[in-house]
Amino acid sequence: MQIKKISIAAHGGAGSENEHSDGTERAVESCYKAVKEKLSLVHAVSLAVNTLEDDGRYNAGSGSHARENGIVEHDAAIMDSEDRFGAVAAMKGFKNPIQAAKGVCDTKYRVLAGEGATKFARDLNLEPSQLNTTFGCGKDFSTSPTMDTVGCVAFDGTTFAAALSTGGMAGAHYGRVGDVPIIGSGLYAGQDGAVASTGDGEAIMMKITAYRTYELIQKGNSPQAIVDEVISWFPSTDAFGLILVTRRGSAGGSNRSMAWSSREYD
Ligand code: GLY
Repeated sequence: MQIKKISIAAHGGAGSENEHSDGTERAVESCYKAVKEKLSLVHAVSLAVNTLEDDGRYNAGSGSHARENGIVEHDAAIMDSEDRFGAVAAMKGFKNPIQAAKGVCDTKYRVLAGEGATKFARDLNLEPSQLNTTFGCGKDFSTSPTMDTVGCVAFDGTTFAAALSTGGMAGAHYGRVGDVPIIGSGLYAGQDGAVASTGDGEAIMMKITAYRTYELIQKGNSPQAIVDEVISWFPSTDAFGLILVTRRGSAGGSNRSMAWSSREYD
């Protein structure tokens, strides 16, 4: 009988504290538990991202930065190697935006934004957020640390999947959308691997980063060599990090500090 290897990695975003990798470890464990319970891989990576969104130390879910007007908006996306993709952009008002992105996968749409995404999440009965969604919460977000985005990638022996969630860039214009919900920019999953980026969304988009990383996976390069090469595409002024899983294993890295974890299971 063929032994199928499960491979999972999670990150807490470029700029997150290395010592906060206890949270990414918990995310990996929650993904693994879901895989063992025979949930779909999309569901499993969404539960890992839920864990990171609820942690509060990362820029996603409960820990999200606010925009220039003090309002919190979220982008989230999820994809697998069986042609599922769903994303929400500039969505307000929900604790776990990744569950809204997962819900979009099951519709005829691929990306829902703004008020339409909020209504969609409300119709799914997702839990509302306690974070500020109205102007003027009185907190100075301009001094927030520049950490960014949480993510998970996984391989269950058959399918690859990737998921990302972010509060976006602290102090950015409201309505600004980064790389996370743009297919092939923040994330990509195909028959040979899955990639989840983090960092300066504008720079990540302009390099079509996740899809070009996937092309390196298809060429058969080693996971760590790919991570090193892709990080070298970004000048040190652009925060950047990534995690990936391939049939040859997983790897991750960043040009900043970054909490991240990976595990392989037989
Ligand atoms: N990488 C997330 C963002 O720029 O919004």
